[in-house]
Amino acid sequence: MLAGRRLLITGVATPDSIAYATARRSLELGARIVLTAFPRDFDDVVELARTLGDDLTVLPLDLTDGEMVTATIPKVGAELGGLDGALHAVAFAPGDALRGTLADADPAGVELAFRTSAWTLTALGRLLGDLAPEGGASLVGLDFDADDRAWPTYNWMGVCKAALRSSARYLARDLGPRGIRVNLVAAGPLRTRAASGIPNFELLTGAWATTSPLRWDEHDPEPVADATCFLLSHLARAISGEVLHVDGGFHAMAAPLAG
Ligand SMILES: NC(=O)c1ccc[n+]([C@@H]2O[C@H](COP(=O)([O-])OP(=O)(O)OC[C@H]3O[C@@H](n4cnc5c(N)ncnc54)[C@H](O)[C@@H]3O)[C@@H](O)[C@H]2O)c1
Repeated sequence: MLAGRRLLITGVATPDSIAYATARRSLELGARIVLTAFPRDFDDVVELARTLGDDLTVLPLDLTDGEMVTATIPKVGAELGGLDGALHAVAFAPGDALRGTLADADPAGVELAFRTSAWTLTALGRLLGDLAPEGGASLVGLDFDADDRAWPTYNWMGVCKAALRSSARYLARDLGPRGIRVNLVAAGPLRTRAASGIPNFELLTGAWATTSPLRWDEHDPEPVADATCFLLSHLARAISGEVLHVDGGFHAMAAPLAG
């Protein structure tokens, strides 16, 4: 499905990362990949990359840093010769932006959360745009359904995800004429490092236990990785501005299921 496709995968931090599962799956499906790592995670990600294959390139990249994004473009070009797709798997919010009430958060932290979790999709879109071939490319981001609802926890990250979804639509508009597709996968709750920062995360996994029509395994990112690989592939060539739910069907239910 991804034979010969050149992909940039951001957001690998641990073996539980959705990006790690996507990297592994995309390699199985024939892709050539380069990983980027948040600079603080760089050494760990280099070590983790060895579990995916020999000689995988890992580049340090803080996606909130526009100059670093610009400097990364020729490095990716030198490694892969161009780019057919990119995965945005990046989010962060300080603790006070995730707990209590919205008004409890320090605005500086909210700005950092927004820049990291929403604006960086546009930064990655710029990088992809510079390296995409004439035939186009695919940008995929990771969403948690927050566009039209409030969760019992999640707070400013929910607001950032709504912004991510809106920016994906605008990016689909801006990049579409160049053949670049922009889509999101809205995943159910998964036990990752990012999730461990969300207070009372079990309120979310508990909701899935009662309401998802399909059994949802919070320890298995592979269904999300598979859907992401599909959107990165030529099979999804006419899909853009879409949000693909990979959440066991949770989003389509109105209330907990009986029995
Ligand atoms: N875990 C879930 O339940 C869940 C559900 C839906 C969507 N998501 C989304 O999936 C994506 C990946 O998260 P994950 O759950 O795999 O957790 P994760 O902690 O494994 O990944 C988050 C990544 O963001 C990176 N990051 C943070 N700030 C960065 C920056 N400035 N520049 C570059 N990288 C930066 C971290 O280094 C880490 O690799 C996030 O967008 C998250 O919101 C997660």
